[in-house]
Amino acid sequence: MLLLGIETSCDDTATAVVRDGRDVLSSVSTNQDEFHRKYGGIVPEIASRRHVALLSAAVEDSLDRAGATFEAIDGIAVTAGPGLIGSLVVGVASAKALAFALYKPLYAVNHLHGHLFAPFLDRVETPPYPFLALLVSGGHSQLVAVDSPVQLRILGRTHDDAAGEAYDKTARLLGLPYPGGPELDRLAQTGNPKAHAFPRHRPADGSLDLSFSGLKTSVRYYLESEAGRDANRADVAASFQAAVIDQLMTRLQSAFERDRYRAAVVSGGVAANSALQAAVRAWSARHGVPVFIPPPKYCTDNAAMIAAAAFYQQGSARVDPLALTADPNLSFSIHSRTL
Ligand code: KG4
Ligand code: ZN
Repeated sequence: MLLLGIETSCDDTATAVVRDGRDVLSSVSTNQDEFHRKYGGIVPEIASRRHVALLSAAVEDSLDRAGATFEAIDGIAVTAGPGLIGSLVVGVASAKALAFALYKPLYAVNHLHGHLFAPFLDRVETPPYPFLALLVSGGHSQLVAVDSPVQLRILGRTHDDAAGEAYDKTARLLGLPYPGGPELDRLAQTGNPKAHAFPRHRPADGSLDLSFSGLKTSVRYYLESEAGRDANRADVAASFQAAVIDQLMTRLQSAFERDRYRAAVVSGGVAANSALQAAVRAWSARHGVPVFIPPPKYCTDNAAMIAAAAFYQQGSARVDPLALTADPNLSFSIHSRTL
């Protein structure tokens, strides 16, 4: 089954052609960073206009690279939400038009479910169910129990910032260019993670929830203090990163103590972080739990993961091309939309 994937939920214009939810024949992503950099963050209006300008060519490009034609594909998978409404609308409208004109099935995918299926791409061995997923991106941070492709339970979520958002905001405090996550990752590699004891959030109720705003504020107060003005920025970056990873690893460990899972998955943009990957791999070796982390190009937003999710969720993802609407607040739960 050959699916064309379309992902425009935020600022990446991404298309892909994927066979059977696994073999990526092409994955094209046009990054808009240069248009947003001078504003220090994503400007929604610019993002949606760039999607309009780029998407048609991106669809043709992904088909060409895959050696496929519109006739050869078996369906179209598109991100229906959550995300920026102006960005989502561009992908959804294009996917609906293609499905309608080509008489092909249309599959609506939740962006967050897409991240959960990224570790299935280009792999011989895929995560066995049930698995525990640590989903850490710029917009979301949560722990998800994945019992089957359509049985997904959120076990814990962030009360405030997402992990990626905390990285981006802290990077900005450190004077690093946008997007800050990868820059902070690089700077931290030369710093001492034990230089500063920034706070680790521990929920009083023993839940698996996360919180990063206290940590970010504490870095800010430190940098604004007398001592912080001449601080070694690499040490601050490494200590901030150690606090984030400590919190994530503590929750992962607690989830495994409460229930049995056959594997751990780490996905979303922050899964590309080198120190988080090292921590998860060390934990995996210690506990004998297989861990699946997508390569960096599938950690961050891409359309191949959307096509993969549509393949595995086919029955519940299929929608009427005339009825689908983009939903910026799309709920995480699976809605049965079976035609
Ligand atoms: O999944 P993603 O591409 O978009 C969302 O759905 O949000 O994640 C983007 C986020 C950004 O906050 C970015 O700074 C962060 O992932 N990120 C990283 C790294 N690479 C990307 N954060 C820390 N270390 C990295 N190497
Ligand atoms: Zn994402």
